[in-house]
Amino acid sequence: EKGGYPDFMLKEIYEQPRVVRDTLVGRLAPNGELDIDELGLSFEELNVIDRIYVIACGTSYHAGLIAKNLIESWARIPCEVEAASEFRYRDPIITPSTLVVAVSQSGETADTLAAIRDARIKGAKVFGITNVIGSPVARESDGVIYTKANKEIAVASTKSFIGQIVSLTLLALLLGQAKGRLTTGQVRMLFHELGDTSAQIQRIFDTQLDAIHEAACACQGAQSALFVGRGMGAAISYEGALKLKEVSYLHAEAYAAGEMKHGPIALIEPGFPVIAVTTKSPTYDKVVSNLKECEARGARIIALATEGDEDIKRIADHVIYIPPVRDAFSAITASVPLQLLAREVALMRGCNVDQPRNLAKSVTVE
Ligand code: M6R
Repeated sequence: EKGGYPDFMLKEIYEQPRVVRDTLVGRLAPNGELDIDELGLSFEELNVIDRIYVIACGTSYHAGLIAKNLIESWARIPCEVEAASEFRYRDPIITPSTLVVAVSQSGETADTLAAIRDARIKGAKVFGITNVIGSPVARESDGVIYTKANKEIAVASTKSFIGQIVSLTLLALLLGQAKGRLTTGQVRMLFHELGDTSAQIQRIFDTQLDAIHEAACACQGAQSALFVGRGMGAAISYEGALKLKEVSYLHAEAYAAGEMKHGPIALIEPGFPVIAVTTKSPTYDKVVSNLKECEARGARIIALATEGDEDIKRIADHVIYIPPVRDAFSAITASVPLQLLAREVALMRGCNVDQPRNLAKSVTVE
């Protein structure tokens, strides 16, 4: 059942190139328009949306953080991302032109479902993004996109996360097109680049395993680790830290790199691991200067950098290279080595990577 892999987590990580491909199959019509009929809303109806909430928990919430960047930049619709457990107990501003996007691998997370019900009563349209056909999230939403991850067995979400990001990216492209912000030509180009991430993930498997192993050795004996990045890199960091603590029980925190000076830099002492997302982006130089401050205090820096970036070696002790990719798609590629890193550290620390203590695959009670 594990297909020759030692654990489900590794098997599922290696399925990710396929998940990207399958989630995109049939989504681009020959006329260059995106085909997401299951959403059940016309271009005109999409065009009136003026506020979006993405609600989810855990890893699915992190997929929402990535989507916010894309939706706001391509469709210019204000988008908030909120933990379903918070959203359901406050009084969010909802009008008939509000869209709520509920993201849930299992499709049965109690807080996410409660938030969907509440949002619909208040008059919002609700789209579900789930991995489980016919699940409560799918049944109770106005429209649904299925992530094509297939059954995910390891408690730690990996392939479903990638499926969620790809699905949310499609939604952001569709909204951008409906709002008249993206041309058909731009959508087609972005769609093809999105598809290219499948081969880029495979390239990470083919070239970066040794680098990931070395980085894991650097983390395994630590008391704590800090993940930092900016923009997409911050969202990637939040998920990287969750994955590490979930499977290896090593305390990890993630911060937007610009926040370091406002507190977390006090943690840095010689040998403290800082895992930084330094892929090429508009804020690359800013992240590097934050890292210099960590380096000056003796941090052990593990950088996720873009292939060809030799300069980063001046401050990083370990570098994991990611194929060049547009910043908008960097979460799809850069998240993968962080999953592998978490798994390796967990194995070095003697943990059961498929079934971490205290956690369940579906959280069906509050
Ligand atoms: O099934 P869901 O996507 O609604 O689950 C949400 C979280 O419980 C889930 O993502 C959790 O954080 C994972 N174990 C993380 O790997």
